Amino acid sequence: MLPIRDCVQQTLGYVPGEQPQTTDYIKLNTNENPYAPPDEIFNNLGEELKKVRLYPDPVSTHLRKAAGEIFGVSHEQILAGNGSDDILNIALRTFVNPGETIAFLEPTYSLYETIARVHGAKITTVPTNDKFELDRPLICPEAKLIFLASPNPPLGKHLNRQYLQETCKKASGVVLIDEAYVDFSDEDHWDFIKQYNNVIISRTMSKSYSLAGIRVGFGISSPEIIEEMNKVRDSYNLDRIAQTLASKCFKFQDSFQEIWGKVRATRNRLIASLRNLDFLVFDSDSNFVFASPQWLEASELYSQLKERKVLVRYFKNPRINNYVRITVGTDAEIDRLLEVIEQLKNG
Ligand SMILES: Cc1ncc(COP(=O)(O)O)c(C=O)c1O
Repeated sequence: MLPIRDCVQQTLGYVPGEQPQTTDYIKLNTNENPYAPPDEIFNNLGEELKKVRLYPDPVSTHLRKAAGEIFGVSHEQILAGNGSDDILNIALRTFVNPGETIAFLEPTYSLYETIARVHGAKITTVPTNDKFELDRPLICPEAKLIFLASPNPPLGKHLNRQYLQETCKKASGVVLIDEAYVDFSDEDHWDFIKQYNNVIISRTMSKSYSLAGIRVGFGISSPEIIEEMNKVRDSYNLDRIAQTLASKCFKFQDSFQEIWGKVRATRNRLIASLRNLDFLVFDSDSNFVFASPQWLEASELYSQLKERKVLVRYFKNPRINNYVRITVGTDAEIDRLLEVIEQLKNG
């Protein structure tokens, strides 16, 4: 028998959205950005590629400085991660001993549960209300770490700010606010890291900066917290190409803001159109919407769309199994989605 840890044996592992091996799908299932980053970021990449013999900067200095300018904080307050998933894992390993408690909402980003299980942490889940909202502060005195995504999947709406604030104030451990989708919204939580000494914000370049394929994320907090987390990360956790491309992206803030505006406009049109097609749809602060067809089982809608080469995300979990999550694509992609839905509805 192999000495596999019980907590690993008892975990299914994270189930990501499908990445089809053919290109004939309209892919609206994993919240990627439908627009490519500016071509200029690839200029002179050959020079960097020729250096692959050498290890990359272990602490991503240039990238952290570029990020710090955009975020308005010192690079000493930033830890770079191999995607923000890396930051979540590092936080877990920095603050929670196996057997100690981590808390998060239900439903939320499903990776929280996977990494907590693999770590052997005790998990406390706090249910959202029937509108999937946080309707009181999350109080869990034994939690060493609380993960709260705002905007929170699968709805994509920001959590109530006042309850979030009270959560941070009353927490005896650390609170990580996962802002993966924040650039598609009007709010952020930068003020929290100034106000509370137990808060970490995580950010990703996978969604708003169109870099899901190279895995870059950040943890932002006090220099003291970042110093501890820095001891836990893999020695060279971001490769050379990721550091170079991500640093360059921050020089094109105007182009990205234009992209975010386009995504938001398409999102609002998608929400209105789905409501016209008799879907229950929640408002969204993200690049995806969460919607329930009132005339067909969501699982059936998912399958019918997939047959017609449109991929959306469907979750079997009991609380959300009558919804689909739809990533905001280009206008043309969303037109096609709506066309297919209309055909299905009209039989
Ligand atoms: C809430 C949330 N946090 C973090 C991530 C992971 O982002 P990254 O690609 O930076 O690991 C996702 C990805 O879907 C997400 O939905």
